[in-house]
Amino acid sequence: MAEDLIINTDIDKEAQYKSIIPQITALLEGERDQIANLANVAAALKEQFKWFWVGFYLVKGDELVLGPFQGPVACTRIKKGKGVCGASWQQNEVLVVPDVDLFPGHIACASASRSEIVLPLYRGEEIIGVLDVDSQYLSHFDDIDAKYLKEIVKILNV
Ligand code: SME
Repeated sequence: MAEDLIINTDIDKEAQYKSIIPQITALLEGERDQIANLANVAAALKEQFKWFWVGFYLVKGDELVLGPFQGPVACTRIKKGKGVCGASWQQNEVLVVPDVDLFPGHIACASASRSEIVLPLYRGEEIIGVLDVDSQYLSHFDDIDAKYLKEIVKILNV
């Protein structure tokens, strides 16, 4: 496993995903530990995209519990159906929220967060958590993020 990532931020978003995804694949190669892999993926995405917050919530009973992340401290527990994360879990859908203030029930862990994307994380067919990314900019996420973050969640296979 390479320990240093090659981070190029002078290219468009799609090219950045195309640069970081093979590196994430290499990072995960040969390691099956869930926490280790989630932690490294959060760190790699933070390094590449400098997002405000990126991390995982993991399903425990009827709640999501905070997992590995990069960014400011965050809420630790989210009930099914609550907030963007709980809604993504309940609806089994990728949710792109251009303005968090307009999302009913959005959970504001940090007031600086303005837009968000949340994707379910699967083991087989079962949802075992979510990947949550927050930006301090409005309308920061789009179909390109959804497409490539879906690939990343698939590679994770945790
Ligand atoms: N905003 C999320 C809560 C998690 S934090 O953003 C890290 C939500 O509404 O589910």
